[in-house]
Amino acid sequence: MKDLSQANSDKWWKQAVIYQIYPRSFADSNGDGIGDLQGIITKLDYLEELGIDAIWLSPVCRSPQDDNGYDISDYQDIDPMFGTLADMEELIREAKKHHIRIIMDLVLNHSSDEHYWFQEAKKSKETPYHDYYVWRDGVEGEYPNDMRAAFGGSAWEWVPSLQQYYFHQFSVKQPDLNWENPKLRQEIYDMINWWISKGVGGFRLDVIDQIAKEPDKKITNNGPRLHEYLRELSRETFQKADLVTVGEAWGATTELAKLYSCPDNSELSMVFQFEHICLDQIEGKEKWDLAPLPFMKLKEVFWRWQTQLHGKGWNSLFWNNHDLPRIVSRWGNDGRYRVESAKMLAILLHGLQGTPYIYQGEELGMTNVQYGIEDYRDIETLNLYKERLEKGFSKDEVMRSIHAKSRDNARTPMQWSDAENAGFTTGTPWLKVNPNYTEIHAAGQLQDENSVFSCYKRLVHLRKEYPVFVDGDFCMLLKEDENIFAYTRTNGDSRLLVLCNFYDTTVSFSLEEDLTAMELLISNYKEIDQTGTLRPYEARMYISKM
Ligand code: NOJ
Repeated sequence: MKDLSQANSDKWWKQAVIYQIYPRSFADSNGDGIGDLQGIITKLDYLEELGIDAIWLSPVCRSPQDDNGYDISDYQDIDPMFGTLADMEELIREAKKHHIRIIMDLVLNHSSDEHYWFQEAKKSKETPYHDYYVWRDGVEGEYPNDMRAAFGGSAWEWVPSLQQYYFHQFSVKQPDLNWENPKLRQEIYDMINWWISKGVGGFRLDVIDQIAKEPDKKITNNGPRLHEYLRELSRETFQKADLVTVGEAWGATTELAKLYSCPDNSELSMVFQFEHICLDQIEGKEKWDLAPLPFMKLKEVFWRWQTQLHGKGWNSLFWNNHDLPRIVSRWGNDGRYRVESAKMLAILLHGLQGTPYIYQGEELGMTNVQYGIEDYRDIETLNLYKERLEKGFSKDEVMRSIHAKSRDNARTPMQWSDAENAGFTTGTPWLKVNPNYTEIHAAGQLQDENSVFSCYKRLVHLRKEYPVFVDGDFCMLLKEDENIFAYTRTNGDSRLLVLCNFYDTTVSFSLEEDLTAMELLISNYKEIDQTGTLRPYEARMYISKM
């Protein structure tokens, strides 16, 4: 097969680092306890200091907030909770002055049930909007089939006035859109082009692999028409501008990712795949069914994605997002070795090939929380709690799962300072601030060259300085080692070498490479012992001397 890697090697997003903002938890400018667009504008200096190239903004469009904005009732307006369209335009403009592009979150698999389309759709079977959604008759007075929604319960909801069910893969307030309808697709393209004309830098596409569902065959993701839809979508919209596009694709394999991110630019720039991040659960069960991380499997997954997409597609690199627990609590150590392990995880990820994503607060080493159930706000967590208790799980067991995996771990307010409410708001925060904000906060880290923030900042800059971060091919070292994640990235004479101890004991290793002949770019311990041992969570990144 022709190596197409050159086709888009000059794309800006290949050298970029993208920062995700979950707006309601980032910065509150008006004291209502909820983050907003003006709040983000006040933090652009901070983001420029970190060095990121783009912000992926979780949804800010008008929404009843059943799923915190992933239920959109007007795609062309901003929710008053976050500000106005003028604020959004200002954010795009101001961010540009800081060399930062704004990436919007497109939720195209479903809308809110309060969207005009759905309001019309449920009035009668004759309106053109009816077919914008997925409707089925019941079967002998029962649900069309036994499909379940991701947030619990049946995926079918009965509308008595129509005597029909509509399909929803998420909450009942998130009816699935019917992509088979060309008129709906055209409305979506018009809306996207409108945002492009406003100057956005790209889009993240929510659960994009679920748009081509075929519920009669119980197909949710990777439906037969998925790539046909994506190519049309890209042709009609994204290809008209110099954008980055990243699709959320839980069902992606490396083969599928090569299609999605084909360098001919026919679909998307890249996808978020979740193979690495789903490893610590009992196989075949849900994320709540906890299992220890199988480290050797983690190494194998990264090796496979790094080698198979090289020159044939493009990876996204992430540990965190607004749906995932904090990585330092999850696979690092949020006690004694919080700083070391947070940096180790950063160094490991940022040396890989792909576009790295930093989720707000990750650059500070923010941690998970352990609240009582009354302090959680996430619809998924609250439904899970009810459902599992009804099924007979003990409260302790359910809370253990929630503490480990609840999405609210990622959603606690950003910790800006040790002032009240971590400097996030002057009001009452919509979700309780993590009590450790008195120790972990941005103000305390910005000037400290040994902070987690400084480590991220250096990594972001290194990627821009050395082309091998973008182009180098990946080779796993110490493949059989059960504690160490080590690899090289090589491009001609240039070689990057990354060594990471993933655990809290000192381990020894032996490598053919002469480390003393290389230059140490970054590490997480002050004094470096070049011999063959790594201290708890020690990480080092070297580059070959020119
Ligand atoms: C994935 C989003 O990341 C998540 O937050 C949301 O609940 C679902 N898609 C439904 O839109």
